[in-house]
Amino acid sequence: MMTLKGPAHAKLNLTLDVTGQRPDGYHNLQMVMQEISLGDEVTLTLGTGQDWEMACTDGGLPTDNTNLAMKAARLFFDATGIDCGGLSVFLEKHTPSQAGMGGGSADGAAVLRLLQAHYENPLTEEQLFHLAEDTGADVPFTLLGGTALAEEKGQALTPLPAMPDCEIVLCKPDFSISTPALFRAIDSAVIAARPDTAGMLEALNRGDLSAVAARLYNVFTPLVQASHPEIGEIRDTMMSFGALGTEMTGSGPTVFGIFGDKNRARDCKKALKARYHDTYLTKPV
Ligand code: C5P
Repeated sequence: MMTLKGPAHAKLNLTLDVTGQRPDGYHNLQMVMQEISLGDEVTLTLGTGQDWEMACTDGGLPTDNTNLAMKAARLFFDATGIDCGGLSVFLEKHTPSQAGMGGGSADGAAVLRLLQAHYENPLTEEQLFHLAEDTGADVPFTLLGGTALAEEKGQALTPLPAMPDCEIVLCKPDFSISTPALFRAIDSAVIAARPDTAGMLEALNRGDLSAVAARLYNVFTPLVQASHPEIGEIRDTMMSFGALGTEMTGSGPTVFGIFGDKNRARDCKKALKARYHDTYLTKPV
C-alpha cells in the first residue's frame, strides 16, 4: 500500500462579477481569486485491495461519488486507465463547507495534484485542467492556486501578481446560502454596482494592499445582506478593529477582512470568535 498526503487550500473572491447567462444553464463570471493558507489535509491510500472507500472528519459531508474528492479520483483513473488496486480517501476538514471558500473544490484539486505527481504526470497540464473543470466550477482555480483572474464558468484562468502579504480574518455566520437559488435571484435583479476589476488588477500589479482592500467587491453581497443583516454587522465589526476592507466570498456566507496589522487582526478574530464558531485568522498563499 502507498499513502499520499497533501494540503487543499481554500480560496477567497477578492472580486466577483456575474456578466451573463450561458446556454448550458451556468453563468459567465469574472472573479479575482486568492488562495489562502486555511485548508484541509487530503490523504490517499492506493492499493488497498478493497472497494473504494472514503471517510471525513466532518460527518455532514457526503462520502460517495458526489464528494468532489471521489469524483476527481474517478475522473483521473478513468482518463489514465491506471488501476490503483483499491483506493481509500481521507479528508481532515478545516475549511467550513458551504461557505463560499471552495473547500470541496480544493479537496478535488488536491486529489488530482497528488495522483498526477505520484504516477509521474500521465496527463498533460491541459488534460489535468480539463479534468478539474469536469470535477466542478472552482476546481481549476484551486488546482492553479496563488492569485488569478477566473472568467467564463470560472475555468478560464489568468495568473496574476501575488496579493501583497497581509492578515485575513474569516468569519462564517451560522446559516447556509443555496448557490443555485442565489444565481436565480441575481438573474431577476438589477445589478446596481459591479467590481472595478481593472482597478483591482492594477492594484495587484502595484502591490498596493490598501488599494486591493478598497476594491473588494462581490455582486452577491447586497442580495445576501438584504435578508441576512449579520453580514453587514460582521463587516462593521471588522472595520471597527481596523480592517482595510471587507467582503463576502463566493456565494457566501463567509465574510473576510483584510488587515495590514497582525495585532489588530488577532484582536478582531478573538472578538468575532466569541460569537461565531467558524472564525479564523489566515493569510494569502
Ligand atoms: O460548481 P458549483 O457546484 O459550485 O455550482 C453550484 C451552482 O452554481 C450550479 O449548479 C449553478 O446553478 C451555479 N453556477 C452558475 N454559474 C457558474 C458556477 C455556478 O450558474 N459559473
